Amino acid sequence: MKPEIMIALDFPTGEDALRFLDRFGDEPLYVKVGMELFYSEGPAILEEIKKRGHRIFLDLKLHDIPNTVKSAMRVLARAGVSMTNVHAAGGRKMMEAALEGLQEGCGEGERPKLIAVTQLTSTDEAMMHDELLIEGALEDVVAGYARNAMEAGLDGVVCSAWEAERIHSVTSGSFLTVTPGIRLAGDAKGDQSRVATPARAKAMGSDYLVIGRSITKAEDPVAAYQRCKEEITHE
Ligand code: C5P
Repeated sequence: MKPEIMIALDFPTGEDALRFLDRFGDEPLYVKVGMELFYSEGPAILEEIKKRGHRIFLDLKLHDIPNTVKSAMRVLARAGVSMTNVHAAGGRKMMEAALEGLQEGCGEGERPKLIAVTQLTSTDEAMMHDELLIEGALEDVVAGYARNAMEAGLDGVVCSAWEAERIHSVTSGSFLTVTPGIRLAGDAKGDQSRVATPARAKAMGSDYLVIGRSITKAEDPVAAYQRCKEEITHE
């Protein structure tokens, strides 16, 4: 079934996150745990979430010298998550080191998928030029980063849904696009610049839709999740 939805568990405490998950009953979810929740609760929260039958994308966006990232990934590999990530801006050597660390940490067990952040979906082209001091078209930069990630052996990239098609065209068939910046029609964009509805993101070839506020801040999060699922099943 393509694409899959990942719910971004952007909550300040484990209690808030687990209370939110309880609303979904027995439905197995794919959730994204980011910096806020992980730094607040540590690895214990991952165990609690897995115990409830959910899969986890651990979104810590590592970006440091290759040796440091490799050591960190070796440790993170023990957390038993399904996916984790680094910043492609750290370069090819850093991405290769991350993959090696993850592989070493897993031993014979299944390695979590490793993906790279290209440009944050809150970055637009003007900001990339004026503040990050990167020239060229945003799309070209994202495609170049994706190629680097593929050549480093990674499984995919985090990108905007609007870039998924282009990325699939410059990478191998199995290379994954994980796309935040998804909004149900009518919801506020917030700090995201390049947003798409679930149906639009599916049409543009996203493999995983990362959805936060459109579900977590909805009056009825379970209904919002079902609406997202219906959009990608029927349209
Ligand atoms: O609430 P919203 O749907 O905007 O949440 C998107 C989630 O995806 C947040 O947790 C954010 O940190 C994450 N993310 C992103 N852009 C990236 C990578 C991750 O928005 N490039």
